[in-house]
Amino acid sequence: MSTPILKVRELEVEYATPNGPAKAVGGVSFDLEQGEFLAIVGESGCGKSTLLFAIAQLLTYPAAMVGGTIGFDGVDLSALSEEELRKYRWRDISVVMQSAMNALNPTLTIGAQLADACRAHTEWSAEKIAERSHEVLTMVSIDHVHLKSYPFQLSGGMRQRAMIAMALLLNPKLVIMDEPTSALDVVAQRSLMSQIQSLRNELGFSVLFVTHDMNVVSHFSDRLAVMYAGQIVEIGKTRKVFDEPLHPYSAGLMDAFPSLVGAPRQLLGIPGNPPSLVAAQPGCHFAARCPLVMEICRVNRPELLEEDSHAVRCHLVNAVQV
Ligand SMILES: Nc1ncnc2c1ncn2[C@@H]1O[C@H](COP(=O)(O)OP(=O)(O)OP(=O)(O)O)[C@@H](O)[C@H]1O
Ligand SMILES: [Mg+2]
Repeated sequence: MSTPILKVRELEVEYATPNGPAKAVGGVSFDLEQGEFLAIVGESGCGKSTLLFAIAQLLTYPAAMVGGTIGFDGVDLSALSEEELRKYRWRDISVVMQSAMNALNPTLTIGAQLADACRAHTEWSAEKIAERSHEVLTMVSIDHVHLKSYPFQLSGGMRQRAMIAMALLLNPKLVIMDEPTSALDVVAQRSLMSQIQSLRNELGFSVLFVTHDMNVVSHFSDRLAVMYAGQIVEIGKTRKVFDEPLHPYSAGLMDAFPSLVGAPRQLLGIPGNPPSLVAAQPGCHFAARCPLVMEICRVNRPELLEEDSHAVRCHLVNAVQV
């Protein structure tokens, strides 16, 4: 196997709050291979966006990275200065954030914004910039006449596509996306995902993708990471996590989503709420909600243990394996 493009190790992020630090990301480690598509799922507030911001080194107060490393192409991004990081952003790593639709500058045309990004990060001539801008818009199925449009002249879905075009502008090695298709209807969503997929096959970039949409996960991701209360509780090949989730939280999450195929079934859901991130209790974060909780779960925090490229943080599973 090739060297991973991204190696995240024991990443920790805290938000300063009046009640003390809230550990939004509590020791996350994973690798992302070149060309791989890793989806991250987990209920609202489990730290998905915070994790992506930390990887892109875009955290701002009250959030701060307080531990771990982010190896990108052999370099620890967390050790770089803002100046050095600028060389990586757009060119090597691009980010489409959750509120991407509103991230476009309302006072500039799409063409002007694409040109600005090119000028800031390359030495390209005006002709080359025009050619590439035309090309990336076409990639996301926006007619190039919209190079002259302002963001307000585009529909919500088109603005989201324009953001993805900007992310692909400089042929990055890693594209980080936080629910980039959430503003689209199902048909538009599927077509944009297919486009991202074929661009990935053609250009070979890796994708780190946060979504609440299990259909997107099952159709487009190679691997799936399930997060709970700031930690990865299960990570493995998407098919495997879907078909045989090992962590009780993953199993509950899979049950909570209706299947597109087969007979409709009752949504079981997962009763209860995630724990406070400020004063973490000992033991497994999921213990209070877990239908299979054991005595040890309330006392000892389980490790993320891997077997056959599938890792799980659960005493039940680990006890069976030993
Ligand atoms: N400014 C802040 N101050 C304190 N805590 C915060 C702040 N922003 C976020 N958090 C906490 O950090 C945790 C992780 O938030 P984050 O936005 O990363 O979750 P998420 O998984 O992306 O959720 P969603 O699916 O709703 O986007 C949450 O519990 C949230 O309450
Ligand atoms: Mg989020």
